Amino acid sequence: VGIGVVVGSRDPERAAATCDKIHRRWPDLELLLEGGDNHAAAAAELAVVATPWDAAPTTAAALADSLSGKVVISMGNALTKVGDEFVAVEPPDGSVAAGVQKAVPAALVAAAFHHLPARSLGDLTGPVVGDVLICSHHDEAVKVTSELVASMADLRALHAGSLAGAAPVEAFTAVLLGINHRYQARAAIRLTGIAEH
Ligand SMILES: NC(=O)c1ccc[n+]([C@@H]2O[C@H](COP(=O)([O-])OP(=O)(O)OC[C@H]3O[C@@H](n4cnc5c(N)ncnc54)[C@H](OP(=O)(O)O)[C@@H]3O)[C@@H](O)[C@H]2O)c1
Repeated sequence: VGIGVVVGSRDPERAAATCDKIHRRWPDLELLLEGGDNHAAAAAELAVVATPWDAAPTTAAALADSLSGKVVISMGNALTKVGDEFVAVEPPDGSVAAGVQKAVPAALVAAAFHHLPARSLGDLTGPVVGDVLICSHHDEAVKVTSELVASMADLRALHAGSLAGAAPVEAFTAVLLGINHRYQARAAIRLTGIAEH
């Protein structure tokens, strides 16, 4: 709330339908939402790549002109289902975020938001509580992503190191999804022992 969002899609009508659905579901919220194609979304000040993990690098590469020089948040988790369990798989570049960075070398890629549960993210009136681990090679990307996280009431941003950390951060999501399934929960992560900052 308070931040303008362009919802991108391969089909702008689908993006517009998604925005309409959100407006209808939460008519009392003043949401600055508009739908467009992925180029429209990539033209924003800050971009979030939130496709299935194996499509993230190619999606970013196709938008390289718009994304160059910008902070680009990668939230994809490379997971597959084995039986009824989610298991982490190793993407070609070690992590989804590293793949996005390689696809758009001139972008300032930050890996973030992997551990937030879908049920909380999908409920605009409820809190999303937890720590958001941010991995990036770029200080500017960590700063901008941290400011975005800080704009959400119950989230705390933690700088979790360079993009090398994205691989274990992404992979841990498989464990978290298993816990949420087992306990019918909306667990995220909260690290202890860190003084408030
Ligand atoms: N769901 C969550 O709460 C959550 C939390 C943390 C991280 N994540 C990560 O965020 C990513 C998105 O999650 P999600 O649950 O939103 O996934 P999703 O619904 O499966 O995909 C999101 C969108 O990606 C687009 N898409 C699908 N296949 C594509 C392709 N081959 N190429 C380009 N675009 C494609 C689709 O939009 P169009 O068809 O309209 O283009 C789709 O609506 C995942 O990598 C997931 O691991 C999700």
